[in-house]
Amino acid sequence: MHIDATEKKWFYISLAVTIGIIALLTFSAISTNIHPPSSVEKIDSNRLHLDGEFKEDNLGVKKNADGSYTVTMVAARYGFYPQLIKVPVDTPIKIRLASFDVLHGVHAPFTNFNTMVLPGYVSEVNTTFTKTGEYPLFCNEFCGFGHDHMWSKMIVTAK
Ligand code: CUA
Repeated sequence: MHIDATEKKWFYISLAVTIGIIALLTFSAISTNIHPPSSVEKIDSNRLHLDGEFKEDNLGVKKNADGSYTVTMVAARYGFYPQLIKVPVDTPIKIRLASFDVLHGVHAPFTNFNTMVLPGYVSEVNTTFTKTGEYPLFCNEFCGFGHDHMWSKMIVTAK
């Protein structure tokens, strides 16, 4: 079979580009320690409000015995509940989120609090906020017509 020289050249160029991209992705994943989540925690989104951790009465900010804090939140069209959370600065915070309905995301600008919230799973973020102030929490996954208005507030207070 005859393959034109130019065609052969382009074949090798696209092969080299493909291999280059895969090598770059592999290198950046290994060097920056990026890996898929390992401990997947499932939850029944339809029964979220009925009992357990994500029942309405159990949501909010709690101080743990070791001085760290746990924040439990629900994402639902179109808001994050509770709608205002207050956490102290320079303190380890574990934020646990579950979706009541569809896929949402949550993002507090200028912090590393940023995660997807998939229905059927618990999303967990472990962080320490280093600057006091008021932060909006935005939904960053399109979840319906009210997506643009889906937000709440977080206040990082002085210790
Ligand atoms: Cu929730 Cu967009």
